[in-house]
Amino acid sequence: MSTTPEIHKGLAGVIADETAISKVNADTNSLLYRGYPVQDLASTKTFEEVALLLWDGELPDTARLKEFEDFERAHRSLDADLKKIIDDLPTDCHPMDVCRTAVSFWGACDADSEDSSPEAEMHKAWQLFASMPAVVCYDQRRRRGEDPVPPREDLDYCDNFLWMAFEKIPAPEVKEAFKVSMVLYAEHSFNASTFTARVITSSLSDLHSAVCGAIGALKGPLHGGANEAVQHTFDEIGVIQGESQAEAKTRAKAWMDDALAQKKKVMGFGHRVYKNGDSRVPTMQKSFFDMVEHFNRHDIIGLYQGLAESMDEVKGIKPNLDYPAGPTYHLMGFDTPTFTPIFVCSRLTGWTAHIMEQRAQNSLIRPLSAYNGVDERKVP
Ligand code: COA
Repeated sequence: MSTTPEIHKGLAGVIADETAISKVNADTNSLLYRGYPVQDLASTKTFEEVALLLWDGELPDTARLKEFEDFERAHRSLDADLKKIIDDLPTDCHPMDVCRTAVSFWGACDADSEDSSPEAEMHKAWQLFASMPAVVCYDQRRRRGEDPVPPREDLDYCDNFLWMAFEKIPAPEVKEAFKVSMVLYAEHSFNASTFTARVITSSLSDLHSAVCGAIGALKGPLHGGANEAVQHTFDEIGVIQGESQAEAKTRAKAWMDDALAQKKKVMGFGHRVYKNGDSRVPTMQKSFFDMVEHFNRHDIIGLYQGLAESMDEVKGIKPNLDYPAGPTYHLMGFDTPTFTPIFVCSRLTGWTAHIMEQRAQNSLIRPLSAYNGVDERKVP
């Protein structure tokens, strides 16, 4: 007698392996990177320190941090051959395609491609960390008809990122909000893109191939692409000059009620693991409000609050990190399609930490499927 197999659609609730990199605790709405609460890291540490924490397992001492910062500052330039390849890509392709192409290029040119020793993998992770911002910033600039802005070695990672994007040193508040977003986006256990990277690594493929796959997974609107989709929602509802916050809120609520009545998925809300709110939202939301203040854009508060209130009232679903992050990047001046590539620059840290962890304790990831096609039959 055959029994019906239990199927875990979307692997929901399945614990696929162990990890020491981060702990997502949905019951307490908390997220730890190597044991440290992410909100404390975001408020006290640089993104460079957090990256080293994820890779090394410990916060860096002065010598380790200097070694990494020296490397990072020396590897920021846009490679001339890669620039040519980017210039040949259509300006209407998605910037995530450009990120994926860049990683593929680096992988193809990597003389140590087949070297998966911990030292070689760490070097590759550092190279990706240092080199990706120039790709993301140049891609946004070429679409605007602007020239690339060379990196500045006297600036730290976040200041230099914003410099290469806008050719301006950001105000300290803007730099801080950007850094907070980078720290919060860096790592989140077995999310879809990280799991993709681990699946690819599990076949003993190379690090660049795993990161290309992860970028593909992150691009989708159910995952990283949600930060762009949130901005599209804001653009669709629109800001009306002279409208009060209460009026904007009413319009936003009506939009949400209508979307939910039509059974639409509204991006920026809900989470597979957190069912009572995303642990990262309060920290990112504070940065969003700081940017509203800094750029004097109180006109979008009504939309922001109206959508969230209506979603909570109708479905009891809370915002996720992408909800405050998308409009924060918009206020900073980034074009909407650049939002998910910024997420890539951050999540590269988590992906590569997981690739190294998977490699160190590898077992081929190969689940089973329950066949539901036609029974065996004869070929006519
Ligand atoms: N908008 C509207 N309804 C939503 C929703 C959203 N963003 N997220 C979940 N729901 C509803 C579903 O429609 C479903 O309702 P039903 O039971 O009445 O059919 C219920 O909540 C469960 O949703 P489901 O998609 O099965 O849950 P999940 O755990 O698979 O979903 C997400 C997790 C992230 C895929 C989902 O919340 C989503 O699509 N969110 C929008 C995309 C997004 O912001 N992604 C970034 C995540 S960090």
